[in-house]
Amino acid sequence: MCGIVGYIGRREAAPLIVEGLKKLEYRGYDSFGVATVGKTLELDKHRGRISGNTKSALRLKGKIGIGHTRWATHGIPNDANAHPHLDCSGTIAVVHNGIIENYSELKRQLTARGHTFRSETDTEVVVHLIEEEYGTKKDLLAAVQTVVPKLVGSYALLVIAAKEERMIVARNASPLVIGIGDGENFAASDMTPILEYTERAMFLEDGDIATINASEVKIFNKGKQVSRPLELIDWSLEDVKKGGFTHYMLKEIYEQPQAFYNTIRSVNSDTLPGFVLNPTSITVVACGSSFHAGLIFKYLLEESCRIPVRLEFASEFKYYPPPIEGLVIGITQSGETADTLTALKQAKAHNCRTLAITNILGSSVSRLADTTIFMRAGPEISVAATKSFIAQLAVLMQLVNNISGRMCSDMLLHAHQAIEEILLIDLTDAVAACTGVKDIFYIGRGPFYAVALEGALKMKEISYIHAEGYAAGELKHGPFALLSPETPVIALCTPGETYGVMISNIKEVKARGAPVIAVGSEGDSELPDIVDIFIPIPHTSPSVQVLTSLVVLQLLAYYTAVALGRDVDKPRNLAKSVTVE
Ligand code: AGP
Repeated sequence: MCGIVGYIGRREAAPLIVEGLKKLEYRGYDSFGVATVGKTLELDKHRGRISGNTKSALRLKGKIGIGHTRWATHGIPNDANAHPHLDCSGTIAVVHNGIIENYSELKRQLTARGHTFRSETDTEVVVHLIEEEYGTKKDLLAAVQTVVPKLVGSYALLVIAAKEERMIVARNASPLVIGIGDGENFAASDMTPILEYTERAMFLEDGDIATINASEVKIFNKGKQVSRPLELIDWSLEDVKKGGFTHYMLKEIYEQPQAFYNTIRSVNSDTLPGFVLNPTSITVVACGSSFHAGLIFKYLLEESCRIPVRLEFASEFKYYPPPIEGLVIGITQSGETADTLTALKQAKAHNCRTLAITNILGSSVSRLADTTIFMRAGPEISVAATKSFIAQLAVLMQLVNNISGRMCSDMLLHAHQAIEEILLIDLTDAVAACTGVKDIFYIGRGPFYAVALEGALKMKEISYIHAEGYAAGELKHGPFALLSPETPVIALCTPGETYGVMISNIKEVKARGAPVIAVGSEGDSELPDIVDIFIPIPHTSPSVQVLTSLVVLQLLAYYTAVALGRDVDKPRNLAKSVTVE
């Protein structure tokens, strides 16, 4: 995915766009660019990150501007492929988030009609198509309205042109929010670059095209003027600042007690429809960390209600749909993950009822699903999901209570305290054991198997150490061949039915010479003696220990990545949410 931001108003646009792009960099960071309209249309774009490279962009003049930070799909990250893209005359500029699927055919036609392409991107066809229509219609809105139906795919587009005192924007299947200011207006992929200036926002719907000037926004859909509700966004500017922390990830890990507290109290059976509260069967579709949250849900719900839960990778679901019925739950913190959206569409096509769990108001998933539960995590900037994951678990654990008709336990209502306590843990020895190795294995059973998967994902994502999570019993069916004194094994071994068998698994690992770092209950009398490093977590209920052990593994990944000098918030090759299949 990419980040886009546009401005029109009384201030110089370039500094505002540059600052906005810095806040959007979590959406992609391999190149960036800015275009402004003052006396003329001016452009500045570069390969690489925006930080430390803004001098020339800040020199652009004009009170109208658009900017883009890129996560490459079509064409390598270089200056030419960076957005904005210009038409042949250099008087129209476009930024785009999404994918134009029919760009090859459009490019062939445009080239045959004499247009010169400067990039390998799919986006560039859009600006040349607008150029043709603008040439005949002399009206930028009408030009965009004519071009948009020719595009197949997903797009949030911002268009500006020399001598035009307005910005035209269009949305289909990519997020686009308009911020309403006082004598100034904004458009962006999400609220993060806008929060500093206004809390009033309108979320565009698919098919919307809007014309925006400093004092007015007019939205059209299928040629007719429409209105979209004005929403007040309760995220604060502080939420998107680092607030004294070295990285967003650490700040967001520290915000987890609050995120859990706010979210678990916001999910209420009174507000949930019958098809969510009384399901006959449940299918969960999700990707990455959200998939791991779904796996924890599966263990907890099946144990407490005996309702079967099928868990599917959203990316597989479209192409290999299982026989489905009942309730389908899409879990996606961003609400924009293409695979999850596609899977939910597929579920709807099979007449299933759908529930979305997301952190983002106005996101695509919340428009798509029959009903949505919003987490209360606040904005998450770091690419690695932490507080959104804990908030997903707050929703899912409360959902288990709601479906089983149980009250939320006191332990869970006070889980934020246990999470807060664990933030202070000293992981020096464990970090030292992980820094410098090439492979790490994580093992657990039941919901702690999902914790192992999530811990390993966090570690590989930000430290670049190869890390794999396994159901503890599976390690001896192959992976044992990889064990050596250089492969630490992180074992999640808390009290409960599987404690004894976990102890056996740990002994088997030790017998193969691998060092074991164990996360277990404080006061455990056996575990500390058989492992190399023991990390105690508060002795509470299994669900709360799922949460606290997760936080331990997040911190372990974080401090290991910092020790290795990694770019924690913006790991290589990744973006915050993946809006392509
Ligand atoms: C988590 O740290 C990852 N960045 C990634 O696995 C993420 O959870 C996945 O891409 C799904 O994102 P979503 O929740 O926004 O759909």
